[in-house]
Amino acid sequence: MIKGLTASGQMLSIQHIDDKAILARFLTQKWGHDGVVVMGKVWSSKDLNIVAAYDETEQMLAIAGWVIKGDTLLLASIDSIFERKGVASVLIDAIVEHARSLGAKRVRAVVTNDNFEAMRFYQRRNFRFTALYVNAADAYRAIFQDTPKTGYYGIPIRDTLELELIL
Ligand SMILES: CC(C)(COP(=O)(O)OP(=O)(O)OC[C@H]1O[C@@H](n2cnc3c(N)ncnc32)[C@H](O)[C@@H]1OP(=O)(O)O)[C@@H](O)C(=O)NCCC(=O)NCCS
Repeated sequence: MIKGLTASGQMLSIQHIDDKAILARFLTQKWGHDGVVVMGKVWSSKDLNIVAAYDETEQMLAIAGWVIKGDTLLLASIDSIFERKGVASVLIDAIVEHARSLGAKRVRAVVTNDNFEAMRFYQRRNFRFTALYVNAADAYRAIFQDTPKTGYYGIPIRDTLELELIL
């Protein structure tokens, strides 16, 4: 467990979680299923390492699932329960540090074409775009029929974009 301070001075603890059911419950509540499609593969909570940010009352504020693929830490999901409070910033800093400590060469993340908040979030943290997968959302829908057709700002969800942070 490590501690991290948000920009507004809130102390968070970042904890690695062994209980996969915590992420399974979270993903199911949020997306209707325990699984995310990243880099053409379905990752469910049981395949992922889990890390979460907690406040001093042990309330979970954000959660992420990641896996090491070769020399890449693949961030399969990161979700903030209370957005724009600096929580995911602390969590991603901890993930990046952990990736370095494991000897990874890069951290890779994937966002859908409507997700400007995440694109902004990653770019502000020095991630660079490395790929655009046109119509990738069709593959999601073939696996998870409940994948929404429309996303943020009423934008049709069609494509995915990959971002990387070189370590
Ligand atoms: C993308 C996401 C994870 C960011 O999480 P977050 O906890 O809101 O992130 P933070 O609060 O750390 O940072 C977001 C912005 O809020 C700002 N912020 C932090 N504290 C703030 C405060 N007290 N008041 C106002 N803004 C604040 C941050 O500076 C940051 O802005 P910047 O990027 O310009 O520096 C979140 O929007 C989310 O869960 N989205 C849905 C899931 C998703 O899209 N995940 C990514 C793809 S897998």
